[in-house]
Amino acid sequence: MDIEKTLAALTLPEKAALVSGKNSWYTAKIDRLGLPALMMTDGPSGLRKQTTATNDLNQSVQAITYPSSALNASSWNTNLLRQLGEHLGIEARAEQVSLLLGPGVNLKRSPLGGRNFEYLSEDPLVAGKLGTAYVQGVQSQHVGVALKHFAANNRENQRFTASSDMSQRTLRELYLKTFEIIVKKALPATVMASYNRINGVLNSQNHYLLRDILRDEWGFHGAVMSDWGAVANHAAALSAGLDLEMPGKGQASIDEIVKAIETGELDEGTLNKSVRHLLHLIQDCQAAPQAKTYDHAAHHQFARKLADDSIVLLKNTQNELPLRPEKAGKLVVVGELAKHPRYQGAGSSHVNPTHLVTPLDALADSGLSATYYPGYRLDDDETDEQLADAALAAAKTADHVVVFAGYPAEEESEGFDKTDILLPENQTELIGRLAKINAHTTVVLQNGSVLEMPWIENVAAVVETYLAGEAVGEATWDILTGKVNPSGHLAETFPLQLADTPMAPTFGQDPHHEYYSEGIFMGYRYYDTHEMHVLFPFGHGLSYTTFEYTNLETQADAHGATITFDVTNTGQVAGKAVPQLYVANHASHAPMPTKELRAFTKLAVAPGETQAVTLHLNRQDFSWWRERKHRWQADTGDYEVMIGESSRDIRLQTKLTMNFENAPAPLSLESYLYRVIGDPRLKGLFQRIVITPLSQPDVPANFFSELDADGQPLAFHNRMFLNMPLRALIALGTPDKPIKTFIRQANQDR
Ligand code: BGC
Repeated sequence: MDIEKTLAALTLPEKAALVSGKNSWYTAKIDRLGLPALMMTDGPSGLRKQTTATNDLNQSVQAITYPSSALNASSWNTNLLRQLGEHLGIEARAEQVSLLLGPGVNLKRSPLGGRNFEYLSEDPLVAGKLGTAYVQGVQSQHVGVALKHFAANNRENQRFTASSDMSQRTLRELYLKTFEIIVKKALPATVMASYNRINGVLNSQNHYLLRDILRDEWGFHGAVMSDWGAVANHAAALSAGLDLEMPGKGQASIDEIVKAIETGELDEGTLNKSVRHLLHLIQDCQAAPQAKTYDHAAHHQFARKLADDSIVLLKNTQNELPLRPEKAGKLVVVGELAKHPRYQGAGSSHVNPTHLVTPLDALADSGLSATYYPGYRLDDDETDEQLADAALAAAKTADHVVVFAGYPAEEESEGFDKTDILLPENQTELIGRLAKINAHTTVVLQNGSVLEMPWIENVAAVVETYLAGEAVGEATWDILTGKVNPSGHLAETFPLQLADTPMAPTFGQDPHHEYYSEGIFMGYRYYDTHEMHVLFPFGHGLSYTTFEYTNLETQADAHGATITFDVTNTGQVAGKAVPQLYVANHASHAPMPTKELRAFTKLAVAPGETQAVTLHLNRQDFSWWRERKHRWQADTGDYEVMIGESSRDIRLQTKLTMNFENAPAPLSLESYLYRVIGDPRLKGLFQRIVITPLSQPDVPANFFSELDADGQPLAFHNRMFLNMPLRALIALGTPDKPIKTFIRQANQDR
């Protein structure tokens, strides 16, 4: 498509139609110019494609229901998250879906956040790296994503109006960080502006957020859409940087834009910018060749594999688990949730599964034989004595008891927050009684977010399956029987009690404001700094084998550091380790958490095998947001590098002295092009921010429009051009905006 020609051919009402959704799931189409409508459906854990006009979120076509993000994130496995994206992309294409509305990457600030099950982590790096992999996976299938909910949408109550009030440092280091990582690395097709305000300004009308940060600083080139019904003033939203109002108000949306242009409230040049973004989106997403179908059974098996890699073994006293079929003896399974599992959250992420396999269904194939007792009712919190007594009587003479417990479905949903983090009274009581009469009691949890465990000391083992998707049954027994060695690690802290969370006194209390007064001390950054006891720390996860960490070495230079160490599987079975690299900053005068996660990986290690691990830290990993100077700052001085299996289980640590004084001078308009292309990092950034947009056919000819066979500008082969400063390129006609964005970003990412 010739974007500029198409733009010129569009009438004002047609442009207004393009920046307003046609309805919930389509953009407008302009038949006259052959512009098709784009179809979008919800994610992030499966497709929620609605084919009929209905307000019932649960009415959608059948689709593979993958584990919720709370579980996926516990895999700490970027390869698997990429594969998840690929699977979703293939399914989207089979359903003619151009845009997948996910992933949701907001941080889990309070355990009461109603949507925590749909989000990845309390830590921006975990959410950022896993989110990047997911987006790359989906988009590798020529399906766009909507990265949501931008930004600081960390509570559900009054989400349409409440303001997330916080310092710029907190915003940059935590609540924007995940989005920044993903936007820069994965280039999402769209970003969804969330309902809430930040420091008083509505996100869908927030110029600082949508233009200054997202586009100018981070170099975002895609389209910005609103969350459903988030726009209060359409013209103001477009002026601020929004491109597409969803789901749109029909003719009213079109009329208000036409009127705003006519009255001068909205500038036509601004409208054109948004239309250009949408034309690019239509062009990119339409390029997808449509797959006819996909292998449902294979995709279901992938859902199982993802859950297998993510389920977290929280506690395992005296090797209670695995329950090897040949040694399990008399097994009693208790809990209505084994029969009617919770395997997904409610709201817009709800999926209609293709093939739900409950734990009870999958028991037969697990190799175990067991007797089953419901034990409690799901529709009533009171203990049903008859059900409880039957389970207790059987448990008394059992060799092992496995009890399934979890939050009731109606408590965990988009749209409202939780009021506590306790299991229903009848389940808590039953677990306590079972543990008392049988020391070999394992609790299997099905919940979207953290919970208190008053019975923890008395049970032998606890397995956190979160909301495990349609293969919940198979994956649960894979872990319990040891067919799969657990390798999930928590991407969030389990506090001992809700009252221990830093925002406990204020969360959701003020209908108009959410005060982020804990600042950057959120999650493990808070508990570890204050040396508080927690139930399970961030990063925690047990295995049926053990790993030893040795030979930590570091090598620093002016750009960052390379960290190497060895991991040995010292047990009897193959397993996967999740080495986590934390950094403590002793160099800066600003308040710092005692440690912050700066890198991680996941690796499969055979029994007795040793593997060398190399992790890299760049300047950004040592940087903090300096408010007064409005920039990232990396300080010269001492740091501590820690390698652990959780934030509290540090196995190796060493001092690292960084010297950033010798780092090359920041780039400026005076910097020469040869410096840019001589540095692979700068060259990559330049390619993304300057060359790709400037070499589009619709952009007027410039230094970078002519490419060689490798997609490199011909200017790069010309020594005369290389010997020009960036300032000269502008003076000779190259647009200044991308060059300036490049300079800003190159200096920030140093
Ligand atoms: C949710 C979004 C979702 C949209 C469309 C909104 O209420 O916040 O996450 O994509 O609805 O269903």
